Amino acid sequence: MALIAPSILSADFNNLEKDIKAISSADYVHIDVMDGQFVPNITIGPVVIKNLKKITSLPLDVHLMIVKPENLIDDFRKAGADIITVHYEASHHLDRLIHQIKATDAKAGVSINPATPVEVLFPILELIDLVLIMSVNPGFGGQKFIPYTLEKVKTLKSKITELGLSTLIEIDGGVTTDNAKEITNAGVDILVAGSTVFNSNNIPATIQALKNA
Ligand code: DX5
Ligand code: ZN
Repeated sequence: MALIAPSILSADFNNLEKDIKAISSADYVHIDVMDGQFVPNITIGPVVIKNLKKITSLPLDVHLMIVKPENLIDDFRKAGADIITVHYEASHHLDRLIHQIKATDAKAGVSINPATPVEVLFPILELIDLVLIMSVNPGFGGQKFIPYTLEKVKTLKSKITELGLSTLIEIDGGVTTDNAKEITNAGVDILVAGSTVFNSNNIPATIQALKNA
């Protein structure tokens, strides 16, 4: 059964508390942090996360799409991030950055954009808790799933199995109740879903459908 991480990027920001309550059957709250530099969009920061933390007991899965993430790791951890995921493409010193995240006692994730080969993460796989494969170009919700990213999931899954690791594979972008089965069959553990969950008229049923895929 897949783990589900609804992305609040597609939630109703005028009724965030209501939408957070509606996803209580999910496994994580996925929070997309964008800075207008690493990606062409700006979203939310530690202040909002700190307040979200007060209204949910689900772990906060914080996806940093920002340049120089090393400057803000402590702030996001203090705000309540349980998983901190940084982009491979945003860091010149990834090994150091992973250690910095782990020193805060948060779980450490690394994400790759669709065009980045997954093999770049092989040297650091044993250091991290999670790999986030982007299945759209990061920046916006509601985009179409890029099919070739599933090949990277399969390659990664074999490597994790070969090394006997428990690293989780998360996928983000364009996940729907129609493609969730193919995605989990490829080896994905955690499905991020924004528009599929929050645009549905029965959020708990949609989460269940994604779980069962
Ligand atoms: C995109 C974000 C995603 C996004 C997913 O940059 O990282 O988390 O919200 O949205 P959907 O599920 O609508 O593709
Ligand atoms: Zn995301």
